Amino acid sequence: MKFFLDTADLDEIAEAASWGALAGVTTNPTLYARIGGRLADFHNHITRICALVEGPVSAESVAMTRDEIVRDGRVLAALAPNVVVKVPAMVEGLAATKVLAAEGIAVNMTLCFTVPQAILAARAGARYISPFVGRFDDISEDGLDQLGDVVTAIGNYDFTESTAGGEQIEVIAASIRSANHVTQAALLGADIATVPFDVLKKMVSHPLTDRGLESFVKDWEKVQNA
Ligand code: G3P
Repeated sequence: MKFFLDTADLDEIAEAASWGALAGVTTNPTLYARIGGRLADFHNHITRICALVEGPVSAESVAMTRDEIVRDGRVLAALAPNVVVKVPAMVEGLAATKVLAAEGIAVNMTLCFTVPQAILAARAGARYISPFVGRFDDISEDGLDQLGDVVTAIGNYDFTESTAGGEQIEVIAASIRSANHVTQAALLGADIATVPFDVLKKMVSHPLTDRGLESFVKDWEKVQNA
């Protein structure tokens, strides 16, 4: 499993990259708004993120028609070679994905909740598919069950003829809210988990690790004073 950071915060991205496990970044309009992002600086900001990570950086189009999504997608893809255009799972999004994929532009289909949405995204040529886990949990449904179904369904078929460059589709477990979500997503076989920085930090820590460190330090003091 690879880890992407789900954030637009440059400090978080730089810090996570220094830990050695960061394979990419996903952003969305909410995450950009959260850091106080301004429209006029959006493209520059995506370029700055792309300079911090070698892997794919998803930047979202909020357009509602296929022509506008394609127009946005072309502009975003031209910002850096590692930009992936995030497109929502809807009819206009599918149509735009077909055009962008044919031009060799990688698409991450977002706001994907069901197996039929995922298969349609795959057929349209999406390179990444992002089933949302936490938002299903928010409405009292099991987001991990849905994620498992998408992983299984996508794995049942060969979609390489649809994707730009004939690459394998990767399923990104998105809307991840806890380290346990990451554990379960890995057991279900999701290719990637995109995680907020606070979840990444929780993934590193465990109380038994802290307790073990504490006793090692204490015992080492005894050795020094012996
Ligand atoms: O980037 C899309 C997704 O990860 C958003 O998560 O927590 O807003 O549901 P969340």
